[in-house]
Amino acid sequence: MDFQLSEEEIAIRDLARDFARGECEPGAAQRDKDEAFPVEQIRKAGELGLMGLLVPEQYGGAELSNLALSLALIEINRVDASVGVTLSVHNSLTCGSINAWGTDDLKSRYLPKLASGEWLGGYALSETNAGSDAGSLQCRADKDGDDYVITGSKAWITSGDHADVLVLFARTDPDAGNKGITAFVVETASEGLSVGKKEPKLGLRSSSTTLIHLDGVRVPAKNVLGEVGQGFKVALHTLDGGRIGIASQALGIMEACLEASMKYAREREQFGKPIAQFQPIQWKLAEMSVKIDAGRLLIYNASALKDRGERHTREAATAKLVNSRGANWCASQAVQIHGGAGYCTDFPVERYFRDARITEIYEGTTEIQKLVIARSLLRG
Ligand code: CAA
Repeated sequence: MDFQLSEEEIAIRDLARDFARGECEPGAAQRDKDEAFPVEQIRKAGELGLMGLLVPEQYGGAELSNLALSLALIEINRVDASVGVTLSVHNSLTCGSINAWGTDDLKSRYLPKLASGEWLGGYALSETNAGSDAGSLQCRADKDGDDYVITGSKAWITSGDHADVLVLFARTDPDAGNKGITAFVVETASEGLSVGKKEPKLGLRSSSTTLIHLDGVRVPAKNVLGEVGQGFKVALHTLDGGRIGIASQALGIMEACLEASMKYAREREQFGKPIAQFQPIQWKLAEMSVKIDAGRLLIYNASALKDRGERHTREAATAKLVNSRGANWCASQAVQIHGGAGYCTDFPVERYFRDARITEIYEGTTEIQKLVIARSLLRG
């Protein structure tokens, strides 16, 4: 594996780092407290070209590698995981699926607006009763002339109340199991689409997660993404990329935990010396560093496979599993190193601890990643 970063990849990593430190860091804690969506930060991300990283240049994007996207997401999540998830879903799931599965017409109608940041994207797969078992979704899309008419509800939609366009999965054949699912590009301004409950969350409180209700929403048949009945494949193929994004989010959180822990351990004195001089603290720092290095290699590996156009289902699941577990471990230890201070909102590790938790749940739980890995092994 050759992990020499290209000049472009280094440039985008540095740009994302500056964006994170300059634009996201100042208000991150307050936005989290207020559950305030990072409107300004997302606008700025669009201006900087961070919303079309994978989108081809002909549609106004940066046409960079998946590794470049991972590098950018690591930097952003290191500072603000709420901005991080918003950009990960937008780049990997919305732009990624339209770019991979869309017709030229769909790409030219949607990708330029998404890549410029004029429009924000969401991904509507889950339902209240279809989470890990995504293939059992019940939202219906019935053909009517040149349109499909969609009725049902989608759950856990990242940016649900701010997204302009959703990649949405609905059932076009009630009797065909997961082969009866079709993917659609749906504009949220469509008549009959409404935003439901905004979820009150433990972490990522400045990102928005909502229900979406569809009551007879008309979507032109030309907005089908991929083939009719092929939607579940579109969903899982897209999630292979999305899971690298969540792995990158988790890695960013781990790096933030190590940075904050080192700073605190050098400053905090107990028993007459900085706590960094005590071996139990050093072991925690060393373990964090090991998890970061291992997690980074897994992300680079999965990203490189994706960039070469090779199947990366198992590698993406592995990267997500290892990094999300690592993030939860590192965040817990970071709080431990800070002691009582780490349990208070005065220090950022309390936010990292809450933000880390979701990385083992969304875009496939840790248990689902194991299932994906085992199925890939047994398939040979
Ligand atoms: N790429 C392409 N095709 C794939 C694929 C992949 N990675 N994985 C599976 N497929 C294909 C299979 O080959 C199969 O096709 P055939 O029948 O033609 O062989 C078809 O898809 C169905 O696959 P399975 O039989 O494996 O399907 P399953 O119903 O047993 O479920 C699962 C598989 C792994 C459990 C899947 O349902 C899953 O990943 N569940 C988790 C759902 C999830 O991750 N949700 C995240 C929601 S989005 C989100 O969180 C975004 C956000 O806002 C943060």
